[in-house]
Amino acid sequence: MGVAERKRDHIRIVLENASVQRGSNWLEYVHLIPRAVPDINIDEVDITVSFLGRKFSAPLLIEGMTGGTEEAAKINARLAEAAEKAGIPMGVGSQRAAIANPELRQTFRVAREAGPNVFLIANIGAAQLVQHGVELAWEAVKMIDADAIAVHVNTLQEIIQPEGDRRFRGFLTQTRRLCREIGVPVIVKEVGCGISYEDAVVLRDIGVSAVDVAGRGGTSWVEIERMRAIEAGRQDRARLAEVFQEWGIPTAASILEVSQVKGLEVVGSGGIRNGLEVAKIIILGAVMGGVAMPFLKAAVQGVEEVKSLIERLEEELRVAVALCGASNINEFRNARYILTGPLKEWKEERITSKKK
Ligand SMILES: Cc1cc2nc3c(=O)[nH]c(=O)nc-3n(C[C@H](O)[C@H](O)[C@H](O)COP(=O)(O)O)c2cc1C
Repeated sequence: MGVAERKRDHIRIVLENASVQRGSNWLEYVHLIPRAVPDINIDEVDITVSFLGRKFSAPLLIEGMTGGTEEAAKINARLAEAAEKAGIPMGVGSQRAAIANPELRQTFRVAREAGPNVFLIANIGAAQLVQHGVELAWEAVKMIDADAIAVHVNTLQEIIQPEGDRRFRGFLTQTRRLCREIGVPVIVKEVGCGISYEDAVVLRDIGVSAVDVAGRGGTSWVEIERMRAIEAGRQDRARLAEVFQEWGIPTAASILEVSQVKGLEVVGSGGIRNGLEVAKIIILGAVMGGVAMPFLKAAVQGVEEVKSLIERLEEELRVAVALCGASNINEFRNARYILTGPLKEWKEERITSKKK
Protein backbone atom coordinates (compact mmCIF):
# COMPACT_ATOMS: atom_id res chain seq x y z
CA MET A 1 0.00 0.00 0.00
CA GLY A 2 1.26 3.49 -0.88
CA VAL A 3 1.67 6.30 1.61
CA ALA A 4 -1.21 8.29 0.03
CA GLU A 5 -3.69 5.44 0.59
CA ARG A 6 -2.44 4.99 4.12
CA LYS A 7 -3.00 8.71 4.83
CA ARG A 8 -6.50 8.49 3.37
CA ASP A 9 -7.19 5.44 5.56
CA HIS A 10 -6.02 7.29 8.66
CA ILE A 11 -8.29 10.27 8.06
CA ARG A 12 -11.26 8.08 7.18
CA ILE A 13 -10.85 5.85 10.25
CA VAL A 14 -10.41 8.81 12.61
CA LEU A 15 -13.47 10.61 11.20
CA GLU A 16 -15.71 7.54 11.21
CA ASN A 17 -14.84 5.89 14.52
CA ALA A 18 -15.30 7.56 17.89
CA SER A 19 -13.49 4.55 19.42
CA VAL A 20 -10.09 5.70 18.13
CA GLN A 21 -9.86 7.83 21.24
CA ARG A 22 -9.22 5.19 23.85
CA GLY A 23 -9.15 5.29 27.62
CA SER A 24 -8.37 8.26 29.80
CA ASN A 25 -5.52 10.77 29.64
CA TRP A 26 -5.76 11.03 33.48
CA LEU A 27 -6.51 14.76 33.46
CA GLU A 28 -9.60 13.97 35.56
CA TYR A 29 -7.16 13.36 38.43
CA VAL A 30 -5.94 16.98 38.28
CA HIS A 31 -8.11 19.29 40.39
CA LEU A 32 -7.63 23.04 40.21
CA ILE A 33 -8.53 24.81 43.45
CA PRO A 34 -11.04 27.57 42.70
CA ARG A 35 -10.72 31.06 44.13
CA ALA A 36 -14.21 32.27 44.97
CA VAL A 37 -13.15 35.85 45.69
CA PRO A 38 -12.00 37.29 42.36
CA ASP A 39 -10.15 40.53 41.83
CA ILE A 40 -10.12 40.21 38.07
CA ASN A 41 -11.95 41.30 34.93
CA ILE A 42 -12.48 38.12 32.98
CA ASP A 43 -12.06 39.84 29.62
CA GLU A 44 -8.68 41.23 30.68
CA VAL A 45 -7.20 37.80 31.38
CA ASP A 46 -4.05 37.53 29.27
CA ILE A 47 -3.41 34.07 27.86
CA THR A 48 -0.43 34.93 25.65
CA VAL A 49 2.66 32.73 26.03
CA SER A 50 6.22 32.34 24.75
CA PHE A 51 7.28 29.09 23.14
CA LEU A 52 10.53 28.36 21.25
CA GLY A 53 11.47 32.01 21.58
CA ARG A 54 8.28 33.32 19.95
CA LYS A 55 5.18 34.90 21.38
CA PHE A 56 1.77 33.33 20.71
CA SER A 57 -1.70 34.61 21.49
CA ALA A 58 -2.62 31.43 23.38
CA PRO A 59 -0.90 28.26 24.63
CA LEU A 60 -2.50 26.27 21.84
CA LEU A 61 -0.86 24.29 19.08
CA ILE A 62 -2.53 22.55 16.15
CA GLU A 63 -0.76 19.20 16.08
CA GLY A 64 0.71 17.83 12.85
CA MET A 65 -1.70 15.57 11.02
CA THR A 66 -1.78 15.50 7.31
CA GLY A 67 -0.61 16.15 3.77
CA GLY A 68 -0.04 14.07 0.65
CA THR A 69 -3.57 13.97 -0.77
CA GLU A 70 -5.98 16.54 -2.22
CA GLU A 71 -8.23 16.31 0.81
CA ALA A 72 -5.20 16.77 3.06
CA ALA A 73 -4.20 19.90 1.15
CA LYS A 74 -7.59 21.48 1.87
CA ILE A 75 -7.26 20.56 5.53
CA ASN A 76 -3.74 22.01 5.79
CA ALA A 77 -4.80 25.25 4.07
CA ARG A 78 -7.79 25.76 6.36
CA LEU A 79 -5.80 24.99 9.50
CA ALA A 80 -3.03 27.39 8.44
CA GLU A 81 -5.41 30.24 7.60
CA ALA A 82 -7.13 29.92 10.98
CA ALA A 83 -3.85 29.46 12.91
CA GLU A 84 -2.35 32.57 11.31
CA LYS A 85 -5.42 34.64 12.10
CA ALA A 86 -5.43 33.40 15.72
CA GLY A 87 -1.65 33.77 16.23
CA ILE A 88 -1.02 30.15 17.21
CA PRO A 89 1.44 27.60 15.76
CA MET A 90 0.57 24.55 13.67
CA GLY A 91 2.24 21.41 12.43
CA VAL A 92 1.80 19.57 9.16
CA GLY A 93 1.68 15.76 8.95
CA SER A 94 4.58 13.52 8.02
CA GLN A 95 6.27 14.88 4.87
CA ARG A 96 7.86 11.56 3.98
CA ALA A 97 5.68 10.97 0.91
CA ALA A 98 6.28 14.45 -0.50
CA ILE A 99 10.04 14.19 -0.09
CA ALA A 100 9.96 11.01 -2.18
CA ASN A 101 7.45 12.40 -4.68
CA PRO A 102 7.75 16.13 -5.54
CA GLU A 103 4.24 16.17 -7.04
CA LEU A 104 2.84 15.93 -3.52
CA ARG A 105 4.77 18.91 -2.15
CA GLN A 106 2.00 21.33 -2.91
CA THR A 107 -0.30 19.50 -0.44
CA PHE A 108 2.04 20.72 2.32
CA ARG A 109 3.15 23.98 0.72
CA VAL A 110 -0.48 25.19 0.77
CA ALA A 111 -0.11 25.66 4.53
CA ARG A 112 2.61 28.27 3.96
CA GLU A 113 0.59 29.93 1.20
CA ALA A 114 -2.56 30.12 3.33
CA GLY A 115 -0.56 31.33 6.33
CA PRO A 116 2.46 33.32 5.10
CA ASN A 117 3.34 34.30 8.68
CA VAL A 118 2.04 31.34 10.63
CA PHE A 119 4.57 29.48 12.83
CA LEU A 120 4.79 26.23 10.86
CA ILE A 121 6.26 22.98 12.14
CA ALA A 122 7.68 20.49 9.63
CA ASN A 123 7.26 16.77 10.35
CA ILE A 124 9.31 13.66 9.65
CA GLY A 125 9.43 10.22 11.24
CA ALA A 126 12.24 8.78 13.36
CA ALA A 127 12.66 5.88 10.94
CA GLN A 128 13.11 8.25 7.97
CA LEU A 129 15.64 10.32 9.88
CA VAL A 130 17.57 7.15 10.67
CA GLN A 131 17.52 5.91 7.08
CA HIS A 132 18.05 9.18 5.18
CA GLY A 133 19.75 11.50 7.65
CA VAL A 134 19.62 15.25 8.11
CA GLU A 135 19.32 15.96 4.35
CA LEU A 136 15.77 14.65 4.48
CA ALA A 137 14.95 16.98 7.34
CA TRP A 138 16.31 19.86 5.25
CA GLU A 139 13.92 18.98 2.45
CA ALA A 140 11.00 18.97 4.89
CA VAL A 141 11.91 22.36 6.36
CA LYS A 142 12.55 23.94 2.94
CA MET A 143 9.30 22.57 1.51
CA ILE A 144 7.14 24.71 3.79
CA ASP A 145 9.67 27.30 4.93
CA ALA A 146 9.20 25.87 8.42
CA ASP A 147 9.94 27.64 11.70
CA ALA A 148 10.63 24.39 13.59
CA ILE A 149 10.74 20.68 12.85
CA ALA A 150 9.06 17.83 14.71
CA VAL A 151 10.47 14.32 14.55
CA HIS A 152 7.80 11.80 15.47
CA VAL A 153 8.71 8.63 17.30
CA ASN A 154 5.97 6.10 16.70
CA THR A 155 7.68 2.79 17.40
CA LEU A 156 4.57 0.87 18.43
CA GLN A 157 2.54 2.19 15.48
CA GLU A 158 5.26 1.18 13.01
CA ILE A 159 5.51 -2.28 14.57
CA ILE A 160 1.77 -2.87 14.24
CA GLN A 161 1.57 -1.54 10.66
CA PRO A 162 2.01 -4.50 8.31
CA GLU A 163 4.20 -2.25 6.11
CA GLY A 164 5.82 -0.40 9.03
CA ASP A 165 9.49 0.34 9.77
CA ARG A 166 11.29 -1.69 12.40
CA ARG A 167 14.74 -0.09 12.27
CA PHE A 168 15.39 2.77 14.66
CA ARG A 169 19.07 2.22 15.53
CA GLY A 170 20.99 5.43 14.98
CA PHE A 171 18.09 7.68 15.93
CA LEU A 172 19.93 9.50 18.71
CA THR A 173 23.06 10.09 16.60
CA GLN A 174 20.99 11.49 13.73
CA THR A 175 18.86 13.62 16.06
CA ARG A 176 22.00 15.10 17.65
CA ARG A 177 23.26 16.00 14.17
CA LEU A 178 19.89 17.41 13.27
CA CYS A 179 19.84 19.68 16.34
CA ARG A 180 23.35 20.95 15.52
CA GLU A 181 22.81 21.55 11.81
CA ILE A 182 19.22 22.34 10.97
CA GLY A 183 19.06 25.93 12.25
CA VAL A 184 15.47 25.74 13.54
CA PRO A 185 14.26 24.33 16.88
CA VAL A 186 13.80 20.55 16.98
CA ILE A 187 10.77 19.04 18.69
CA VAL A 188 10.55 15.30 19.35
CA LYS A 189 6.98 14.05 19.55
CA GLU A 190 5.23 10.82 20.29
CA VAL A 191 1.92 9.92 18.67
CA GLY A 192 -0.09 8.39 21.52
CA CYS A 193 2.23 6.62 23.97
CA GLY A 194 3.77 9.55 25.87
CA ILE A 195 7.41 10.36 26.67
CA SER A 196 9.20 9.40 29.89
CA TYR A 197 11.49 11.41 32.14
CA GLU A 198 14.50 9.30 31.13
CA ASP A 199 13.88 9.85 27.41
CA ALA A 200 13.37 13.57 27.97
CA VAL A 201 16.76 13.84 29.72
CA VAL A 202 18.47 12.11 26.77
CA LEU A 203 16.67 14.34 24.27
CA ARG A 204 17.52 17.52 26.15
CA ASP A 205 21.17 16.46 26.33
CA ILE A 206 21.45 15.97 22.56
CA GLY A 207 20.04 19.43 21.87
CA VAL A 208 16.29 18.93 21.41
CA SER A 209 14.38 22.15 22.25
CA ALA A 210 10.95 20.73 23.08
CA VAL A 211 9.09 17.47 23.50
CA ASP A 212 5.47 16.94 22.57
CA VAL A 213 4.21 14.10 24.73
CA ALA A 214 1.11 12.90 22.77
CA GLY A 215 0.31 10.66 25.70
CA ARG A 216 -2.08 7.77 26.12
CA GLY A 217 -5.73 8.74 26.30
CA GLY A 218 -5.95 10.68 23.05
CA THR A 219 -6.14 9.44 19.47
CA SER A 220 -4.90 5.86 19.60
CA TRP A 221 -2.70 4.73 16.73
CA VAL A 222 -2.74 1.23 18.13
CA GLU A 223 -6.50 1.20 17.58
CA ILE A 224 -6.29 2.86 14.14
CA GLU A 225 -3.68 0.35 12.98
CA ARG A 226 -5.71 -2.50 14.51
CA MET A 227 -8.66 -1.48 12.36
CA ARG A 228 -6.48 -1.22 9.26
CA ALA A 229 -4.96 -4.64 10.00
CA ILE A 230 -8.43 -6.19 10.19
CA GLU A 231 -9.45 -4.51 6.91
CA ALA A 232 -6.28 -5.91 5.33
CA GLY A 233 -6.95 -9.41 6.68
CA ARG A 234 -3.84 -9.29 8.89
CA GLN A 235 -5.11 -11.03 12.02
CA ASP A 236 -1.56 -11.37 13.36
CA ARG A 237 -1.06 -7.59 13.42
CA ALA A 238 -4.55 -7.02 14.83
CA ARG A 239 -3.81 -9.42 17.70
CA LEU A 240 -0.53 -7.66 18.44
CA ALA A 241 -2.43 -4.36 18.60
CA GLU A 242 -4.93 -5.86 21.05
CA VAL A 243 -2.17 -6.96 23.40
CA PHE A 244 -0.67 -3.44 23.40
CA GLN A 245 -3.98 -1.57 23.56
CA GLU A 246 -3.14 -0.04 26.95
CA TRP A 247 0.53 0.63 26.24
CA GLY A 248 2.00 4.02 27.02
CA ILE A 249 2.07 6.80 29.61
CA PRO A 250 -1.18 8.71 30.09
CA THR A 251 -0.89 12.34 28.98
CA ALA A 252 -1.09 13.84 32.50
CA ALA A 253 1.60 11.50 33.87
CA SER A 254 3.88 12.07 30.86
CA ILE A 255 3.68 15.86 31.28
CA LEU A 256 4.56 15.51 34.97
CA GLU A 257 7.56 13.38 33.98
CA VAL A 258 9.05 15.46 31.20
CA SER A 259 8.46 18.83 32.83
CA GLN A 260 10.94 17.83 35.57
CA VAL A 261 13.69 18.22 32.97
CA LYS A 262 15.13 21.72 32.94
CA GLY A 263 15.95 23.34 29.62
CA LEU A 264 13.23 21.54 27.66
CA GLU A 265 9.89 23.04 26.68
CA VAL A 266 6.87 20.78 26.90
CA VAL A 267 3.85 20.50 24.63
CA GLY A 268 1.08 18.62 26.44
CA SER A 269 -1.04 16.61 24.04
CA GLY A 270 -3.08 13.45 23.82
CA GLY A 271 -6.82 13.75 24.27
CA ILE A 272 -6.93 17.50 25.03
CA ARG A 273 -10.51 18.40 24.14
CA ASN A 274 -11.32 21.67 25.93
CA GLY A 275 -9.74 24.78 27.44
CA LEU A 276 -10.05 23.50 31.02
CA GLU A 277 -7.83 20.59 30.00
CA VAL A 278 -5.36 23.06 28.48
CA ALA A 279 -5.31 24.82 31.89
CA LYS A 280 -4.65 21.49 33.60
CA ILE A 281 -1.71 20.59 31.38
CA ILE A 282 -0.20 24.04 32.00
CA ILE A 283 -0.45 23.58 35.77
CA LEU A 284 1.36 20.24 35.33
CA GLY A 285 4.26 22.04 33.60
CA ALA A 286 3.46 22.20 29.88
CA VAL A 287 4.00 25.42 27.92
CA MET A 288 1.55 24.62 25.12
CA GLY A 289 -1.48 22.40 24.72
CA GLY A 290 -1.50 20.40 21.49
CA VAL A 291 -4.76 19.33 19.88
CA ALA A 292 -5.13 17.11 16.80
CA MET A 293 -8.31 15.16 16.18
CA PRO A 294 -10.84 17.93 16.99
CA PHE A 295 -9.00 20.20 14.54
CA LEU A 296 -9.20 17.55 11.84
CA LYS A 297 -12.96 17.29 12.37
CA ALA A 298 -13.34 21.07 12.24
CA ALA A 299 -11.11 21.44 9.16
CA VAL A 300 -13.05 18.97 7.04
CA GLN A 301 -16.06 21.25 7.58
CA GLY A 302 -14.36 24.55 6.82
CA VAL A 303 -12.09 27.35 7.98
CA GLU A 304 -14.84 29.03 10.04
CA GLU A 305 -15.24 25.84 12.08
CA VAL A 306 -11.51 25.83 12.80
CA LYS A 307 -11.64 29.49 13.86
CA SER A 308 -14.57 28.88 16.21
CA LEU A 309 -12.86 25.85 17.75
CA ILE A 310 -9.82 28.02 18.53
CA GLU A 311 -12.07 30.73 20.02
CA ARG A 312 -13.92 28.17 22.15
CA LEU A 313 -10.69 26.67 23.52
CA GLU A 314 -9.30 30.16 24.25
CA GLU A 315 -12.46 31.23 26.06
CA GLU A 316 -12.58 28.06 28.18
CA LEU A 317 -8.92 28.52 29.10
CA ARG A 318 -9.46 32.19 29.99
CA VAL A 319 -12.36 31.23 32.27
CA ALA A 320 -10.31 28.48 33.98
CA VAL A 321 -7.40 30.90 34.58
CA ALA A 322 -9.75 33.54 36.01
CA LEU A 323 -11.55 31.06 38.27
CA CYS A 324 -8.18 30.20 39.81
CA GLY A 325 -7.64 33.89 40.61
CA ALA A 326 -4.96 34.54 37.98
CA SER A 327 -4.89 37.31 35.41
CA ASN A 328 -2.26 35.81 33.13
CA ILE A 329 -0.59 32.48 32.37
CA ASN A 330 2.50 33.17 34.48
CA GLU A 331 0.37 33.92 37.54
CA PHE A 332 -1.74 30.88 36.77
CA ARG A 333 1.33 28.62 36.93
CA ASN A 334 1.35 29.30 40.69
CA ALA A 335 -2.33 28.42 41.14
CA ARG A 336 -3.17 25.71 43.65
CA TYR A 337 -4.10 22.21 42.58
CA ILE A 338 -4.13 18.67 43.87
CA LEU A 339 -3.63 15.31 42.23
CA THR A 340 -5.66 12.26 43.16
CA GLY A 341 -5.92 8.56 42.29
CA PRO A 342 -3.41 6.84 40.01
CA LEU A 343 -1.83 10.15 38.94
CA LYS A 344 -0.91 10.89 42.56
CA GLU A 345 0.56 7.40 42.91
CA TRP A 346 2.46 7.83 39.66
CA LYS A 347 3.92 11.11 40.89
CA GLU A 348 4.98 9.57 44.21
CA GLU A 349 6.60 6.56 42.51
CA ARG A 350 8.28 8.32 39.62
CA ILE A 351 8.83 11.96 40.30
CA THR A 352 9.21 13.03 43.88
CA SER A 353 12.80 11.79 44.10
CA LYS A 354 13.93 12.57 40.53
CA LYS A 355 14.30 16.34 40.05
CA LYS A 356 17.13 17.20 37.70
C1 LIG B 1 -5.51 11.94 11.31
C2 LIG B 1 -4.27 12.11 12.11
C3 LIG B 1 -3.05 12.04 11.47
C4 LIG B 1 -1.86 12.20 12.18
N1 LIG B 1 -0.65 12.18 11.51
C5 LIG B 1 0.48 12.48 12.18
C6 LIG B 1 1.72 12.64 11.47
O1 LIG B 1 1.79 12.48 10.25
N2 LIG B 1 2.83 12.97 12.19
C7 LIG B 1 2.78 13.14 13.56
O2 LIG B 1 3.80 13.48 14.16
N3 LIG B 1 1.63 12.97 14.24
C8 LIG B 1 0.49 12.67 13.60
N4 LIG B 1 -0.68 12.55 14.29
C9 LIG B 1 -0.66 12.58 15.77
C10 LIG B 1 -1.07 13.94 16.32
O3 LIG B 1 -0.13 14.92 15.95
C11 LIG B 1 -1.20 13.93 17.87
O4 LIG B 1 0.07 13.78 18.44
C12 LIG B 1 -2.10 12.84 18.39
O5 LIG B 1 -3.16 12.61 17.51
C13 LIG B 1 -2.68 13.16 19.76
O6 LIG B 1 -3.56 14.24 19.72
P1 LIG B 1 -5.16 14.12 19.82
O7 LIG B 1 -5.49 13.14 20.92
O8 LIG B 1 -5.62 15.51 20.10
O9 LIG B 1 -5.64 13.61 18.49
C14 LIG B 1 -1.89 12.40 13.60
C15 LIG B 1 -3.14 12.46 14.24
C16 LIG B 1 -4.32 12.33 13.53
C17 LIG B 1 -5.63 12.42 14.28
